Amino acid sequence: MASDHAGFELKAALKEYLSAKGYEVFDYGTDSGESVDYPDFAHPLADAVEKGNVSFGIAICGTGNGICMTANKHQGVRGALCWIPEIAALAKQHNNANVLAMPARFISVEQAKEILDAYMNASFEGGRHQRRIDKIAVK
Ligand code: RB5
Repeated sequence: MASDHAGFELKAALKEYLSAKGYEVFDYGTDSGESVDYPDFAHPLADAVEKGNVSFGIAICGTGNGICMTANKHQGVRGALCWIPEIAALAKQHNNANVLAMPARFISVEQAKEILDAYMNASFEGGRHQRRIDKIAVK
């Protein structure tokens, strides 16, 4: 997980939620509500996802956009900005998203848990979706 100051509280809540379910959570910061720059936290998370050190990433900032844009600069990352469970499920089913980005200033903790559950409970469908994913990278 990674966030900026705007996503810090939601990140803490989701970290507790996942830990209680028995998941091992790596927290790449930030560690407080003090103003910071989201790329400083998005890049370490994206590195970990790219290297396969974690199974997937959760990226949170105020809108979800800045941290998702930064993560998506990494070739091995497919970050998806998700604000409702349906989009989160499709991000996994169709895009095999490996970073789930959420907008802390526009969703509640309960909504974020539902989005996270939808993402984690969905499976990539492969087939034509794999073909499309294979065309995303700039050669
Ligand atoms: C911080 O104020 C805000 O700009 C940031 O959290 C994010 O929304 C940027 O995309």
